[in-house]
Formats: sequence, structure tokens, C-alpha cells
Amino acid sequence: LEVLVLAGGLSHERDVSLRSGRRVADALEDAGVSATVTDVDSDLLPTLDRLRPDVVWPLLHGSTGEDGSIRDLLELVGVPAVGTGSAGSRIAWSKPVSKTILARAGVATPESATLPASVFREVGARAVLDRVVDRLGLPLVVKPAKGGSALGVSVVTDVDALPQAMVTCFSYGEVALIERAAVGTELAVSVVDLGEGPVALPPVEIVVEDGIYDFDARYNAGRTEFYVPARVPAEHARAAQDAAVTAHRVLGLRGLSRTDLIVDDDGVPWFLEVNSAPGMTETSLLPLAAEAAGYALPDLYRAIVEHALR
Ligand code: DAL
Ligand code: MG
Repeated sequence: LEVLVLAGGLSHERDVSLRSGRRVADALEDAGVSATVTDVDSDLLPTLDRLRPDVVWPLLHGSTGEDGSIRDLLELVGVPAVGTGSAGSRIAWSKPVSKTILARAGVATPESATLPASVFREVGARAVLDRVVDRLGLPLVVKPAKGGSALGVSVVTDVDALPQAMVTCFSYGEVALIERAAVGTELAVSVVDLGEGPVALPPVEIVVEDGIYDFDARYNAGRTEFYVPARVPAEHARAAQDAAVTAHRVLGLRGLSRTDLIVDDDGVPWFLEVNSAPGMTETSLLPLAAEAAGYALPDLYRAIVEHALR
């Protein structure tokens, strides 16, 4: 079995993707699968032609990876691939779109406003932000409508900090999502589908000692504590798992995904976002949850690859 792992690329999450790619390829080799990592660039088509893999595992995070474009290309040339196809990827990649669909499916998600940078230029920042704060209150979370690894994300507790948060956000994308900050326990619920329907792994609780679960807290060991099982009542954990399975199903995700949410004190899981190509680095959450559930990662990854070929 020849697997070609696609990693790198030119998104803001390039480096994370290279780390995910190497980890997954090493684990596949441990499972007796031949895995090659390629750093995706304009040579991708000649590389596919030369290596003729049985299956491709796109571990590209961020734009061009999770936005569906790499999947369009693979679907066009007819190469089997692990994970979610282009339509599901595109839907999951947009936080406003996925929030709307999840809300219609009965999953709670924080009240929000979606603001393109052009509105700021036309109407003026002050007038627009005053309206947003009137409607949503404080604190707010400002994030790129499409993005990953918390890049460009700010928590705003003071209205005077909002313009700077918007400027930071717009440096990562043309559209901002401003959400009412959910209060509760931050959980990440990974879902795997090995052919018998999507199954949620144990939720991972994320606790950052100083500040938010930002880029540094994600990838530099030590700043974040993870609890698996999460320190929430069993029925709260189950509600979070149900929400993650719902997200996987209604957004049309395949193979594996990770839903990030906040569960409040009443046990309501508030959907924040879903990742169609979740991080697979040494500090990432899906591998952590899988090991807590008793999976050996080489066996799990091999099963995911085999499922993609069925
Ligand atoms: N966007 C990163 C890779 C994650 O969600 O894990
Ligand atoms: Mg994400």
C-alpha cells in the first residue's frame, strides 16, 4: 500500500502541516504502510504521475488545504484521498456557513456578526463596531471567518481594543467573524469514521494557564494542559460528542474531523468550528484523544487509509 502524504503548501499553517505530515507518515510506516511526504507546490501533478500512490492523505491545513481546492484537484485527476471531499471541505472551512448549518440542525453556536473589510472602509469602523457591541455585548471573540490554528484571533473585553482586533483579523482574511464569547469549558471532540458511521472520541479539555489557546499555546509544549477524559460531568461530555457527530454528518465530512466547542455549566455545547483536516502534530488533539480511547496511532491511521480506499 503506497500512501502519499500531502503537507506544507503556502498557507499560514504551512509549518504545522509539515509537522502533521511527518507524524502521520512515520506512524503509517510503523504500521507497515509505505508513506512518502511531499511538500505541495507546483510540482504536485508531476509528483502524482511519478509516484502513482494508491491513496493520498491531504494533511494541508489552512487555505488551499481545508478550503476544498486541493480536493478539487484530486477529484479532477481521480486520485483516491483520505478525508472530506471538496464540497464538505469548503463548507467546514467557512465558520459563518458551518455555524448557520449547525444552528439549523439544533446545535447551539454563539451569536455572531460577519463583517467584510470593505464594510469598514465604506461605513467607518466606529459606526459599525458600535452596532456590533450594542447587539452582542462584551466580551467578544474576533476571528477570521476562514482560518486555523487561532491565527488572527483576539478576545476583546474592552470596546477600545476592538479596532485593533479587527485590523489583526483582516491581516489574515477579508472577512471577520465577531462572536459573543461563550463561557464554559473548552473541549475538542475528534470524530473518526472507519465505515460504521462517525464515532466521537473522548473530548479533550483544554486549559491555558495564561491567556487563550492561541498559536503558541497550541504548538509549544508547556503552556497548555489537556485533560482526557475532560473534567466535566459525563452527560456534558456526551452532549459535546453528539454535537461533534452532528457536525460531521450534516456538513458532509468524511474519515476524520475535529469539532471545537465550549460546554457551559448547564451542559450545553456551543459549537465554535469544525476542522476537516485536524492537526496531527505531537501536541495536537486528535492523536491525543485517539490514544486515550485505546487506539495505537499506526493501527488507527492504517484503518483510516484503508477505509478511504473502500
Ligand atoms: N488548524 C489546526 C491544524 C487544527 O485545527 O488542529
Ligand atoms: Mg480550526
